[in-house]
Amino acid sequence: MRISVLNGVNLNILGRRDPSLYGGLSIAELESRIYGWARELELTVQCRQSNDEGEYVKWCHDAYDTVDGVVVNPAAWTHYAWAIHDALESLTIPIVEVHLSNVDERDEWRRKSVVTDLVAARFVGHGPDGYKMALEYLKEHSK
Ligand code: DQA
Repeated sequence: MRISVLNGVNLNILGRRDPSLYGGLSIAELESRIYGWARELELTVQCRQSNDEGEYVKWCHDAYDTVDGVVVNPAAWTHYAWAIHDALESLTIPIVEVHLSNVDERDEWRRKSVVTDLVAARFVGHGPDGYKMALEYLKEHSK
């Protein structure tokens, strides 16, 4: 099973952002954990991160023909980037939404997610383990 993990804007500076919200791992350390979980679960995972919304949209399009599931953390784009919603909305493979912090219990503006109506599952506020939960979910629900 092939899975694309797409991390969005500002997640490249994890490790420098507030550790009480996002934990202390760098993006490289987070991706290395994700690859470790993928090996344990016998999944083929590719992690990507971008600060360019157009590039992120393109990676969503790539998912149409290349993978069996997508894990998205669009970061701040989650709350307003309808182009990302539209890029994902015609996918017929499962999409899982992950946020390191608990976006439902932070600022009011973070409670809105433009992708939630498209996703099969959502893991928020579990730190890096949210990505593990997402991979496990996709594995369990694969055809
Ligand atoms: C985030 C939550 C977003 O509100 C925020 O803008 C981020 C990261 C998270 O993983 O907790 O950059 O998506």
